[in-house]
Amino acid sequence: MKAVLCREYGPPSALSVEHVADPVPGPGQILLRVEACGVNFPDTLIIQGKYQQKPPMPFVPGGEVCGVVTALGEGVSAPAIGTRVAAVITHGGFAEQAAVDAAKAVPVPEGVAPDAAASLGLAYGTVLHALEDRGALKPGEVLLVLGASGGVGMAAIQIGRLLGARVIAAASSAEKLEACRAIGADGLIDYSAENWRDQLRALTGGKGPDVIFDPVGGPYSEPALRSIAWRGRYLVVGFAAGDIPRIPLNLVLLKNCAVTGVFYGDYARREPESNRAMLSRLFGWVAEGRLRPAISRSFPLEQASEALEMLAGRQATGKLVLVTHAAEAPPR
Ligand SMILES: NC(=O)c1ccc[n+]([C@@H]2O[C@H](COP(=O)([O-])OP(=O)(O)OC[C@H]3O[C@@H](n4cnc5c(N)ncnc54)[C@H](OP(=O)(O)O)[C@@H]3O)[C@@H](O)[C@H]2O)c1
Repeated sequence: MKAVLCREYGPPSALSVEHVADPVPGPGQILLRVEACGVNFPDTLIIQGKYQQKPPMPFVPGGEVCGVVTALGEGVSAPAIGTRVAAVITHGGFAEQAAVDAAKAVPVPEGVAPDAAASLGLAYGTVLHALEDRGALKPGEVLLVLGASGGVGMAAIQIGRLLGARVIAAASSAEKLEACRAIGADGLIDYSAENWRDQLRALTGGKGPDVIFDPVGGPYSEPALRSIAWRGRYLVVGFAAGDIPRIPLNLVLLKNCAVTGVFYGDYARREPESNRAMLSRLFGWVAEGRLRPAISRSFPLEQASEALEMLAGRQATGKLVLVTHAAEAPPR
């Protein structure tokens, strides 16, 4: 099969597209004919050896797949061959076929396209877990989303709105903010401007946001936390800016607020049943037309490096997806 290979740690340009042996599903695994694979910031980290997990070399990156089951490994009776499923995995998705743990596979309902299914698990799963489970976001509250034009950020705008919040999007350019407005943000802040805390104060009537969703870190976190509302919840999601901020703890005391970590990958591993239920809810929202994943661009497998360079170079808006095989009507 054709696959994108990481043979040594380095930038996306160091990846190669090669013909390799077809994967064989091990005990507890299923084999997928991959139709689409989401591209996510952690993919840019894993190929540089900067991610928590370090697969043995050479490895195939790609952590979020949708495909049709073509074979079952030992001890697996479901999902049945022919079922279209999606799964969040650590790596292995940028390929024509992938062997994934059956326990991670969630059936994709009728009416959800493979590229949408391959975009939901990581970004939208992280966001729903963060906002609802960790942040206790309530209808009518104000949600501030940092890095709002990115894959996870746009998901936070959409899901924040679905949960009934008023969503303020913060991003670094007028173009990115326009994309946030188009997807439903109620308020916009250019956080590359010096006075962005004043803009935030004005947009919240001086009160500050109730919940802050932060996938960026770097220079934005401390000013954002200083602006949070009384009894606010600050969600630590990621550090796309590179630097991990050190925050003076008195800020947390002064606002009577909570600073809460979000680690979706471990949540999915440690609490698989609640994760599967949450993913089924997300798929249901897509099937009902209430949620449409914010895919801005699709690439063929051969252009995986370009897609990863766009993400790492801060040029992407919304989700990027690799489309591997044209979707066939699933032989259910
Ligand atoms: N905790 C979890 O469980 C979990 C799960 C999934 C993802 N994440 C993390 O969430 C973060 C966002 O992921 P994503 O897939 O949404 O990435 P993305 O699409 O690349 O979005 C990241 C956003 O961060 C901003 N940014 C600021 N400085 C940047 C820099 N130096 N390089 C790149 N982007 C920069 C960019 O917006 P502006 O240009 O507007 O600033 C960009 O839109 C990553 O750190 C990822 O590891 C965490």
